[in-house]
Amino acid sequence: MAKYKVLAVVNNEEKRLMIRQRLSRAEGVALVGFAHVDADIMTRIKGYAPHIVLLVQEQGDAGLMELAQRIYQGFPGCAIALLTPTLDLEMLRSAMQSGVRQIITEDNMATLNDALVQAALFEQGRNNEVGGDPRVIAMYSGKGGVGRTTLAVNLAVALSLGGRRTALIDLNLNFGDAPLLLNINAKDTLAELTQEKTAFLIEDIKGFSMQHSSGLSILCAPSSPEFAEYISARHVEMLVNTMRPYYDFIVLDLPNDLSENTLTALESADDIFLCARKDISSLRSTKILMGILGTLQLQDKIKLIINADRPGIVTQKDFDRILQMPVAYVVPEAAKTVQISQERGVPAVIGFPRSDLAVEISKMARDQMNRSSKRDMQAAGEATLAAAKAGPAIKPARPVRPAHKPLKTPKPKTARGASLFKSRKRGGSA
Ligand SMILES: Nc1ncnc2c1ncn2[C@@H]1O[C@H](COP(=O)(O)OP(=O)(O)OP(=O)(O)O)[C@@H](O)[C@H]1O
Ligand SMILES: [Mg+2]
Repeated sequence: MAKYKVLAVVNNEEKRLMIRQRLSRAEGVALVGFAHVDADIMTRIKGYAPHIVLLVQEQGDAGLMELAQRIYQGFPGCAIALLTPTLDLEMLRSAMQSGVRQIITEDNMATLNDALVQAALFEQGRNNEVGGDPRVIAMYSGKGGVGRTTLAVNLAVALSLGGRRTALIDLNLNFGDAPLLLNINAKDTLAELTQEKTAFLIEDIKGFSMQHSSGLSILCAPSSPEFAEYISARHVEMLVNTMRPYYDFIVLDLPNDLSENTLTALESADDIFLCARKDISSLRSTKILMGILGTLQLQDKIKLIINADRPGIVTQKDFDRILQMPVAYVVPEAAKTVQISQERGVPAVIGFPRSDLAVEISKMARDQMNRSSKRDMQAAGEATLAAAKAGPAIKPARPVRPAHKPLKTPKPKTARGASLFKSRKRGGSA
């Protein structure tokens, strides 16, 4: 089996010799080099791409834990081990908080080999937790204003609070308002991403995502409808495909149209949450939409949601009967809760977790998490086997993205684009 590559970060020559001797015939690990603690240390680590960095503690190494933190954050997949003359409780705590996987004291050098292998295995475990096979959930509806964004945002936040790596993509390219509900100032949007990158790497996508305190990543809709044309169906497909391996859940807040972008998003999704209000008009549009989704052979992905439920002439039984599909979730009307949540930019699942609305959406999130953990348990067995065959693996560091260029108004390609373009020009000269 391939050996784990070890880079030892140590200034002292005697200690280098000691490590070289100890690891020269080690099983499971191979010493690939030594590095000094200096300004170039991160570049050097990147160059060696080790599976394990062995940090060697010397007298007066005040910055060593800070270096450990930088390695932990900058090189996912790279384990950190610490070799130290002595160990006290304070150092142990500090090392653990800095991402150090294993601590070896100098009087216990015989355990160095095993400890390094253990460190690499622990780190592989952390890496396996990341990524996986996510669920892509599209929030969709026949009519506008039924609550897609409210549900998409709250569901995504609930999944994120449940410890799942979750992203929300706002594909309402003309008037996306998901960031408003999260009190996020959308500095970067899908328009900047698609303008600056022709092929998307996950680092690019993450670089253009906004972060919410719940841990949720948000890819925001363009700041103005005139930039919507920057985003094509190919971009939508590329986004979802690139993000899939890095998230547990990707929630798509879709517009209520049948554009190429929306159809591509629906095809990319694993679940289509079809939202409706309990009224005749919403029921009718949902029925028509289900017919269209059936023609596209997407009917198996559909889950029906009634939102803002209140007693009325149309009943849930009417939905079941006419749509010939049971309603999966009924989210109650909660005008006040939703209004205050919107005004504060704090989703109900955080601001009003005990409200009926938040409880129903949290149930929706739990059902999704339970589904995916069952799949993960199966997948974990297969992944362990595959990892054992493939041997050690390391992920490259995430590059830092420079500030993006300001956007230019796109050349209009369609009549709709042309009129928007003209009206913007008129507005500008008035
Ligand atoms: N469960 C609910 N109870 C009461 N009001 C709600 C509920 N869900 C959403 N609303 C309100 O309904 C309106 C529309 O909600 P939202 O913007 O989420 O819908 P949408 O389908 O995304 O709309 P659009 O078509 O404009 O994108 C908002 O004013 C929102 O506060
Ligand atoms: Mg919306």
